[in-house]
Amino acid sequence: MRTETPQPIRLSDYRPPAFLIDKVELTFDLQPNTTRVKARLDIRRNEGMAGEPLKLNGERLKLISVAVDGRKLGEGERSVGPEFLTVAEVPDAFALETEVEIDPENNKALEGLYMSGGRFCTQCEAEGFRKITYWPDRPDVLSRFTVRIEADAKFQHLLSNGNLIERGELPGGRHFAVWNDPFPKPCYLFALVAGELDVLEDKLVTMSGRTVDLRIYVDTGMAPRAAYAMDALKRSMKWDEETFGREYDLDLFMIVAVRDFNFGAMENKGLNIFNSSLLLANPETATDMDYERIESVVAHEYFHNWTGDRITCRDWFQLCLKEGLTVFRDQSFSADMRGHAVQRIKDVKALRARQFAEDQGPLAHPVRPSSYLKIDNFYTATIYEKGAEVIRMLKTLIGAEAFRAGMDLYFERWDGHATTVEEFIKCFAEVSNHDLTAFFTWYEQAGTPRVRLASRYDPAKRTLDLELAQQTPPTPGQPTKTAATIPVRVGLLDQDGRTQAFERDGEAVDETVIVLDAAKAKVRLEGVDRPPVISALRGFSAPVVLESDAEPKDRYILLAGDPDLFNRWEAGQELARELILSRAKGRPDDVGEERFAEAMGRALADQAADPAFKALLLSLPSEPDLALALQPADPAAIHEAREALRLRLAVHLAEDLRRLHSGLQESGEFSADAAAAGRRALRNAALELLAANPRAETAELADGHYRGAGNMTDAMGGLNALMLIGGPEYELALEDFYTRWKSEPLVVDKWFALQARDPDESALGRVMGLTAHPAFDAKNPNRLRALVATFANFNPVRFHDPSGAGYRFLADQILAVDRYNPMTAARLVDVLGAWRRYIPELGQLMKAELERIAKADPLSKNVFELVTRSLGEDGAG
Ligand code: PHE
Ligand code: ZN
Repeated sequence: MRTETPQPIRLSDYRPPAFLIDKVELTFDLQPNTTRVKARLDIRRNEGMAGEPLKLNGERLKLISVAVDGRKLGEGERSVGPEFLTVAEVPDAFALETEVEIDPENNKALEGLYMSGGRFCTQCEAEGFRKITYWPDRPDVLSRFTVRIEADAKFQHLLSNGNLIERGELPGGRHFAVWNDPFPKPCYLFALVAGELDVLEDKLVTMSGRTVDLRIYVDTGMAPRAAYAMDALKRSMKWDEETFGREYDLDLFMIVAVRDFNFGAMENKGLNIFNSSLLLANPETATDMDYERIESVVAHEYFHNWTGDRITCRDWFQLCLKEGLTVFRDQSFSADMRGHAVQRIKDVKALRARQFAEDQGPLAHPVRPSSYLKIDNFYTATIYEKGAEVIRMLKTLIGAEAFRAGMDLYFERWDGHATTVEEFIKCFAEVSNHDLTAFFTWYEQAGTPRVRLASRYDPAKRTLDLELAQQTPPTPGQPTKTAATIPVRVGLLDQDGRTQAFERDGEAVDETVIVLDAAKAKVRLEGVDRPPVISALRGFSAPVVLESDAEPKDRYILLAGDPDLFNRWEAGQELARELILSRAKGRPDDVGEERFAEAMGRALADQAADPAFKALLLSLPSEPDLALALQPADPAAIHEAREALRLRLAVHLAEDLRRLHSGLQESGEFSADAAAAGRRALRNAALELLAANPRAETAELADGHYRGAGNMTDAMGGLNALMLIGGPEYELALEDFYTRWKSEPLVVDKWFALQARDPDESALGRVMGLTAHPAFDAKNPNRLRALVATFANFNPVRFHDPSGAGYRFLADQILAVDRYNPMTAARLVDVLGAWRRYIPELGQLMKAELERIAKADPLSKNVFELVTRSLGEDGAG
C-alpha cells in the first residue's frame, strides 16, 4: 500500500494568488537531455497578502540558481522540495531570476517540455508548466511572456506564442528566435516547438480588414495533408466572426502537429498543438470520420482563443467555463457545416455512450466538481459534453437573441481576465431578466435526471394533459438531489403521422417548450383536434433519460414521419433497444422484430431522406449503450441478442441493402464534403448489416468492397465487414492492409483498432499477441489507445471474458503505462470502474483488478484517484 494518502484540492479553499507576475522573460537553451531554462519574473505582491512567503510550483527541476533583484540567494534563504520552491522573505515588488535544468528526451509523461519525433514540444495544461520552470502554476496568474529560444540549427523552426520579434545566428552552429505575446495569459497556455517541420501557409483577411498569416507545421513531406485542416481553420475563423462577432487578434496563427500527445489538441495562444491524428488527412489515409473530427477539433481549438484564452478560468474547478462552452461552439459550427439533425444525433450518441455511462458509475461528478486530487482526471465527458448541453439548455430557455446578448456581455466584461461559472451565468441573467439561480443546479449536481411523461387526451374537450415528473438518482457524495430546470420541447402528430397544431396559453403553435423546474409539473395543451402522438424531448432538448407511457405504435408513427429528425431517429433506437433487451432477458419478440424490420425497410426506401441520416437510422444501439439499460449487464447476452436482430434485418432487408450498396457506388473524384460522406456512410452501413449474415456471397461482396476501395473510408468499411464475417478472406485482407500501410503511423493505428473490435472468440488472444507486434509502442498514446482502449471500450463481449483475462490484461497495461505516463494510464481505468453495473460473476473479477492496481507501489496520483473512487462509495448505496 502507499505510505501517504494524497490530499484533495477543494473549491471552497480557493484563495487569490499571493503574488502577481506582470511580465516574464524566458530563455531556453535547448538540448535533448540538458535543457537550461532561465526565467526573469517581474513579481508584485497582491493586495491584502502582506507577510505571505513566495511559494512557486516546480517539479522534476534541477535548480541551478535563484536570485532576488540580482542577488543570488544562499541555501538558507530558500527551500526546495519535490513540489515547491519557497522564499520566506521577499519585498512587495521585485525581480526573481531562476535557472533550472530539465531532460526533455526522457520525459515520457508528455507533459511539460518533451521530445516527439526528434522535435521539442510542450504541453502545459493543466499543470505541466511547473515541469519547465518555477512558477505559481494556476490559471488566475496572467502574464505577458517574452520567450527566447536557442538551439542547434538542425532544429530549424523555433516557435512560441505571439509574434516573432527577432531571430539570428549564434556561434557553434546554433541559432535563436525571440517571441513576444502581447496578451497576458496563464502559464497553461504557454507553448514552444523546435524542430524540422514542413509548413503549409495561407492568409485570411479578418472582419476589420487585417491580414492574418496562417501556418500549419507538420512532418516533412506532409504539408499537402494539412490542406483540409487549413480550410477548416479559415471556415472557423469566419464563422466565429459571423456568429459571435469574434475576430482573431494576433497577426499570426500557427498549428503544429505532433505524433506523441496525451489528448486531442491544445489551444495555446497563437500556437495550437495538435495530435497528428486530428490534423493530417488525405482521401487515401483518412476516413470521413477523421475529416469530420479534424474539422470540429480545429474549430474547437480556434474558438478557445476567445473562450479560454482571452477569458480564462479562475481555477481548475471552472474548467467547464472554457470547455463546455467551447464544445457548444464547435458543435454549433459543425451543425452549420454538416446539417443540424445529423450533427445532433451524433453528438447525442457520443453523450450517451460516454457521459451517461460516467454519470451512472462511481466516477460521476458535477459539471463543476468541488474537489480533486489530479485535475487531469477531470477532462471528462461530463465537463466537456454535458457542459455543452448545459449551454444549449441555457440558450433554449432564454432564447437565441438573449443568448447572443449574454455572450457579448461576457466578452465585454471579462476580456483579459480569469473568471468563474457564476460570473458567466450572471451575464445571461442580466440581459434576459431571468432568475437563473435554479438553473445553476446543472453545474453542481451530478447524475442524469429521469423524466417521466404521462398523458391523457380528452377528445370531447380537445385537451391533452401532460404530467411530467423528474428524479435524479444518487451519485457519490450526493445522496439526495434537488429538481433541475429541464426544458422539454414537445410537438404533436396525429395517428396518420401528420403534424398537428395545438394551443398553449391561448396561442396556436406547432411546437412548445415545457420547462419542468420542480419535481412535478402539469401542463394542459388545448385545441388538440385528433388523438395525438406525442413527440417529446425534440432535438434532445435536455440531457435526461425520458420514460413515457407511449405505446410501440406511437414510436412507429414517429419513426415514419416525425418532422423532428432527432426524434425520428430516436424512435427507431428505442424500438431496437426494447427488442434487443427483451431477447437478452430471454423473451424474444419475433413478431415485433419482423415489424421493426419492415419499418426500417420503409425508412430506407424514403427517397427524400438524407443518406447520412439513413446510415444513422440503420445502426442499432451499441453494446455499451445497451449495457446501460440492462441492469445488471450481461455483455454476452447483449451481444447475442443484438446480433440476432442484426441477422433478422440482414435477411429481411437483403435486397434493399444490396441495392443500396450497388446504387451508392461512387465513380469520379473524391469529395470530403458532408453529402459525399453521407453516401459512403450509408453504403458502408448497408455492408456492415449484410455482414451479419455471413454467407459466401456476403464475404465476396465485402472482399470486392475492400479491394475496390478508392479511399480509406471504403477500405475500412470493407475490412470491417470482412472482420465481422471472419475467415481466410479477412486474414488475407488484414495482411494486405498492413503491408500496404506499414509506414503510415495513423493508418497502422486503424489496423490495430480494427482487430481490437473483433467480436470473434479469438480476439482476446489476438489483442494480447499484438502487444508484442514490432509496431506496437505503448509509449505512443495513439497506438496504446488504438489497441488497448478500443478493446476495453468497444469490444464488450471479448473484454468481459468470463475468465477475467480481459480485465487482467487491461490492469497490466495500466500498471505498466503508469510508470511513465500517468495521465494516459488513468484514462484506461474507467471501464473497470463500472464493475457494479455488471452481473456479479464479472463485477467481482473487475473489482479484484482494481484492488490489485490500488495495491501497487509506486502508483501515480492520477491512477490512485480513479481507482479509489471506483472502489469507494457507490452513489446508489
Ligand atoms: N484544452 C484541450 C482542449 O481543447 C484539452 C487538453 C487538456 C489537451 C489537457 C492537453 C492537455 O480540449
Ligand atoms: Zn477544449
